[in-house]
Parts: sequence; C-alpha cells; structure tokens
Amino acid sequence: MSARVAVVGSSNLDLVVTASRLPRPGETVLGENFRTVPGGKGANQAVAAARAGAACDFVGAVGDDEFGTQLRTSLVGAGVDVRGLRTVAGPSGVALIGVDREAENFIVVAPGANGTLTELDADDRATIAAADVLLLQLEVPLTAVTQAADWARADGTTVVLNAAPAAALPTELLDLVDVLVVNEHEAAVVAGVSSDEPPVLLDALLKLVPRVVLTLGARGAAYADRRGLRLAVPAPEIDAVDTTASGDAFTGALAVGWAERGGAVSEDTVTASLRWACAAGAACAQRPGASTALPDRPVIDALYDATYRGAQ
Ligand code: RIB
Repeated sequence: MSARVAVVGSSNLDLVVTASRLPRPGETVLGENFRTVPGGKGANQAVAAARAGAACDFVGAVGDDEFGTQLRTSLVGAGVDVRGLRTVAGPSGVALIGVDREAENFIVVAPGANGTLTELDADDRATIAAADVLLLQLEVPLTAVTQAADWARADGTTVVLNAAPAAALPTELLDLVDVLVVNEHEAAVVAGVSSDEPPVLLDALLKLVPRVVLTLGARGAAYADRRGLRLAVPAPEIDAVDTTASGDAFTGALAVGWAERGGAVSEDTVTASLRWACAAGAACAQRPGASTALPDRPVIDALYDATYRGAQ
C-alpha cells in the first residue's frame, strides 16, 4: 500500500558553518566552510517522507523574501505538494547551525514566517483528512499543531508528533497523539522527569500518550505502547559526518513505514518500521546538510538490507 503523509510544520533556510569544534558560551571559534541549505523540521520531514516513497502534502508558511523562494523551490523539487504553503509578508524562518568534526551540531532557529501559522483553514483540513498519517513537530505555533491534531483525530488520520524542539506539552495536545517520537532529551522534557534511562522515560511517557518511539542516536530506537508491546532495534553502524536532520529522516521514514503497514501494530510490523526508520536516519547522517542529506528509498532499502538481513 502506498502511503499518503501530510505535514504541518516549519521550513527554515539553514545557515551552516563547519568547524573543528563547537564554541562554548561567549567563545568565538574560527570555522571552515559556510553554506545555505533548505531545512526546518517540518519541511525536512515532508521531503524525507516523499523520498521514502509517500505522496506528501506540506502545510506551512514562508516569507516573501529570497529565502522563501528557495524553500518553496526545494519542496517542489522533492515532489512535495505545496498547495498548503503560504507566502506571508516578512522574513522566512532561518536556522543558524554549527557542525563539528564529530558530526555534532548546535541549532538556533529564528521562526520568521513559521510563527504566523497560528490557524489552519478548510483546505488544510481536507489535506489532513486525505492522509494516512499527519506528521507534526513543534516549530510552528501550538494552536496550529493542536488544531491539525484535532482534525486528524476527528477524520481518522493517525497523528505522529515529533516533540522537537523539546517542550512541555498541554494535555489538550497529548490526548490527540497516536505515536510520540522523541529523543532522550525531548522525552525527559515532555515527561517532566530528570532520568536518562530509556525504560523510565518510556514508562513516564506512556502515562501521557498510547505509543512512544524513543530515538537513541547511534544506539538505535526503542518502542513501547500501552498494550504492553516493548522492543528495541539497533542502528546501522556508519561513519557520521553530520547528524543534522537525522531525526527528521527517521520520523519521515517511520511515518511512511507505519502507513504502508496500514497502522498494524505487532512485534513484526513495529520492528520493521523502526529498523527502516533507523536506516533512513543513519543514511542521512552520512551526508552533510538537512534536506540535502535526506535519503531516497533505494538508499534506505540498501542500508536496511545490509544491516538487518537475516536478523530476527
Ligand atoms: O532537524 C533539523 C532542522 O532543525 C534544521 O534543518 C533546522 O532548520 C531546524 O529546524
């Protein structure tokens, strides 16, 4: 079954500098290269889903500046349907990103046009209703995120929330989430606990949402749900050059894998979806940049096969 994914979220132009190491607060370090790359967690996840094989619609906002034109062109080039992308007066979203030689990064986002997406319209509702999965993040106003989730729940579309950047979330939104995707830091913030132990984080999050996917970077990912299913998968072993957007590649591929399996939840289906998402995240980390690094389906399949073929 081919998947249809709708994304309501951000698009940013990423201003990326590489350096041998990242600066500490108050410190200046001399960097190496600079480049601009289309990014934003929402747009990245839309491109990730499209490259992973889904029909994908993006609902968001860009500014009426040159960056906005670049962001729109990038989404169209990736095959994403942008009829829900508004152009508003003012600057587009921008992300300042530093990447070091260990592939670690820092990211600071100026939301710009993303901050104007406070309310959705009837066309957006139809887009969400037509999708198998709605993908949400936290780089656009919570009012739009909650409205989208509310409509998805009413119209039978699965709600996948990637709670990034990390934030404590209102019950009103958490009650509408079918699958929560978080890394360890985001998990601790959403759950309001100080532990970094995956079992503790999963237990705490299951009090808030019915299914949790916990991403663990190079250690893979873990899954838990309220029906008692718990499993973990390892990540492919790769040489990472830049982990920017790896979480977006993971989440986009997870949404596609989940939809292609018709939302069926068993040990086999969840294991396969998580492994495929881990392959997408790892493939992304092998290349520099955000949208530029998001892998096509054959690349995901190849790394999946190389890593997990023969595994139980
Ligand atoms: O997840 C990576 C993304 O976070 C970057 O593309 C940047 O724009 C920020 O939104």
